[in-house]
Amino acid sequence: MNMDLAGKSAVVTGGSRGIGLAIARALMDAGASVLISGRNRKTLDDAVAQLGDGAAGFAADVSSEVEVQALADHAGGLFGNVDILINNAGINPWYKPTENTDLAEWQQIIDVNLTGVFLCTRIFGSRMLERGRGAIINITSVAAHTGLPRAAAYCAAKAGVEAMARSLAKDWAARGVRVNNVAPGYVATDLTAGLAANDKLRSSVEHRTPMGRFAAAEEMAGAVVYLASDAASYVTGATIAVDGGWTAT
Ligand SMILES: NC(=O)c1ccc[n+]([C@@H]2O[C@H](COP(=O)([O-])OP(=O)(O)OC[C@H]3O[C@@H](n4cnc5c(N)ncnc54)[C@H](OP(=O)(O)O)[C@@H]3O)[C@@H](O)[C@H]2O)c1
Repeated sequence: MNMDLAGKSAVVTGGSRGIGLAIARALMDAGASVLISGRNRKTLDDAVAQLGDGAAGFAADVSSEVEVQALADHAGGLFGNVDILINNAGINPWYKPTENTDLAEWQQIIDVNLTGVFLCTRIFGSRMLERGRGAIINITSVAAHTGLPRAAAYCAAKAGVEAMARSLAKDWAARGVRVNNVAPGYVATDLTAGLAANDKLRSSVEHRTPMGRFAAAEEMAGAVVYLASDAASYVTGATIAVDGGWTAT
């Protein structure tokens, strides 16, 4: 079993904060060189400084085809080849009933959380297919498996990403590129800070989580490093739940 990533290169979208930053750090601890992306340059620069030698940053919005292409070109210039892509960038800017959701609100979440994964996967995946080697890991959510109230677009996007990964796993398995998902439960990050600050909502999440607490971002990283590594050489199209038991049935 080999979880050593020495000599490998990785791109982590949304690597400037939260789960993505913790994943970037863990990939580096396992020996990889890492390029993180995000939209806000200052946050990116701060994250690169925190990560230290072996880390680089590039500002790109995953919902823009032009910007994802620029990210891939930058990664190519930096590394030559990218071995590992972590599709982590995601948003959940609102909770609201679908009957009050307008098309632009729906589209915003689909553009980043679903189309963004498609764009990164197609652009980085094409280069991996040319080499016959690569690992792609999507950060999805319990929302792909259970209905979260007032979050139809988020649930649809995350379930869509998991379905896309299963399809690609079949298309690309014999061509050397593995595609898998890690589905977190509730993790203490900026994304959930508003919810966690509300006593009623926080205790409802804690109550519904068998482990009785939010995860730390670092607790998502082990599954990602495993799936990125040769220890997972026969794993594709899989989803690892890292959710404190939320989806255990
Ligand atoms: N926290 C949770 O409880 C939880 C649970 C299940 C799944 N997840 C998933 O885990 C992933 C990370 O979540 P998180 O909690 O770490 O969120 P976060 O703390 O809000 O961080 C999100 C990251 O994504 C970047 N980002 C957002 N929109 C982007 C875009 N359009 N293009 C490029 N980068 C973008 C952000 O940087 P900029 O803002 O600078 O662009 C930031 O680096 C998401 O896919 C989320 O859906 C989170």
